[in-house]
Amino acid sequence: MTKKTVFYCESCGYEAPKWMGRCPKCLAWDSMKEFKIEKEISRDRTKPTLITDDALPEERIILNIPEMDRVLGGGLTCGSSVLIGGDPGIGKTTLSFLIASRMIELGYEVLYVSGEESLRQLSSRKTRLNLKGPFSILTTNRLEDILSAIAEKVYHLIIVDSIQSIYNSDLSMLPGSINQIKDVSSRLIMEMKKKEITHIFIGHVTKEGAIAGPKILEHMVDTVLYFEGDKTLPYRLLRVTKNRYGPVDEVGIFQMRPDGLVSVDNPSRFFLSDREHMGTGSTIFPYITGTRPILLEIQAITPKTTFSMPKRLSLGYDINRLYVIVAVIEKVTGRPFFDRDVYVNVTGGLKITEPAVDLAVAASIISSYKDKIIGSQTAIFGEVGLTGEVRKVVNMDLRLKECERMGIKKVLCPLGVEYTSNMEISSVKDVKTLYERL
Ligand SMILES: Nc1ncnc2c1ncn2[C@@H]1O[C@H](COP(=O)(O)OP(=O)(O)OP(=O)(O)O)[C@@H](O)[C@H]1O
Ligand SMILES: [Mg+2]
Repeated sequence: MTKKTVFYCESCGYEAPKWMGRCPKCLAWDSMKEFKIEKEISRDRTKPTLITDDALPEERIILNIPEMDRVLGGGLTCGSSVLIGGDPGIGKTTLSFLIASRMIELGYEVLYVSGEESLRQLSSRKTRLNLKGPFSILTTNRLEDILSAIAEKVYHLIIVDSIQSIYNSDLSMLPGSINQIKDVSSRLIMEMKKKEITHIFIGHVTKEGAIAGPKILEHMVDTVLYFEGDKTLPYRLLRVTKNRYGPVDEVGIFQMRPDGLVSVDNPSRFFLSDREHMGTGSTIFPYITGTRPILLEIQAITPKTTFSMPKRLSLGYDINRLYVIVAVIEKVTGRPFFDRDVYVNVTGGLKITEPAVDLAVAASIISSYKDKIIGSQTAIFGEVGLTGEVRKVVNMDLRLKECERMGIKKVLCPLGVEYTSNMEISSVKDVKTLYERL
């Protein structure tokens, strides 16, 4: 063992190899403090390995939580590191308890490390969620406790709730500070990867919604998931933003119930539960998340404005695209909207970024403006160009298949769509045609 000396700024965490009177990053005076780090000199050297054309087998565990398995790209990869971030109280601990319970049911050894809740709290949560099996729980905030637990027993899965609550007592920085998170996560990942233990870190998020701590945390792990949703609504979305073992545009949908989280198998039915009451300004749009289509309702209202500048407001749809859609409707129909406010809403609190929704947004605005009901039997999709033309979009067959499955009778879509079914496929050349047809 040798000792290495480093200096950290107490106020911003800047690391320097030598002492400085003033931190070059945050410009604080006399903030550099000395740390001694023990460094092991290893005589073993890792040698390069030749990989052949035959891929090394990748082992996955199917958790039997359909939405989670799908988002992970077909189950939890053995030995992988997963980071789950989310707002306070959104259900991160509930989700990780569910994963732990399923792993225990499958016969794996699981250690649940909690730096936030007491044993009593966790035990009553387990009873409330009706989860089976004896849970191995370690309530600690110290990194050393986790490392010694790993050294003493073989675990297949370790869940750390939360990574921000764990600290290394050798460092003088506060728990949750950038350098603590960096140090704790890199040591844990290194140790667990070496022992091929699958690990899940729960992460807090900042006010802006990003995972709290250094960006490097997201680089270090294999998979980053965000657990999101409107706390006033019963469902939660599990969104993947990074995955070394699967696609990154999948979204898992769960329902939060008093007895825990339940996977939503038929999201179209879930999001369109109130189809009978669709009035003017409402249209159905077949949305694609990852590989899965979901029918959603797009709503718009266009009341006479009482402001000097008409208001444009959008929830779940890009506001700039709304400006474009309104401008296109004005141009191709010759009807100005300067005396009208335009409000658009994607029901269920989903955020849609794909341009395929443009035509449904335009149809909702026109439906509200003309006071004509489109109804719950018609679905609409297509991208709208600046000259008002309607363009083809990706995954049209998938969208049409979902519409057919959900009993839609008519689909308004771009020209050139070929799909054989009992549904009426009505091609829309441009926004002007749409305006005349509604
Ligand atoms: N005793 C309870 N009875 C019914 N519902 C509860 C109870 N405790 C928690 N919940 C519900 O479970 C939800 C999720 O709680 P959970 O602790 O899993 O969230 P979290 O994301 O881990 O929060 P935190 O950021 O505080 O760790 C809560 O918002 C609440 O609606
Ligand atoms: Mg929690």
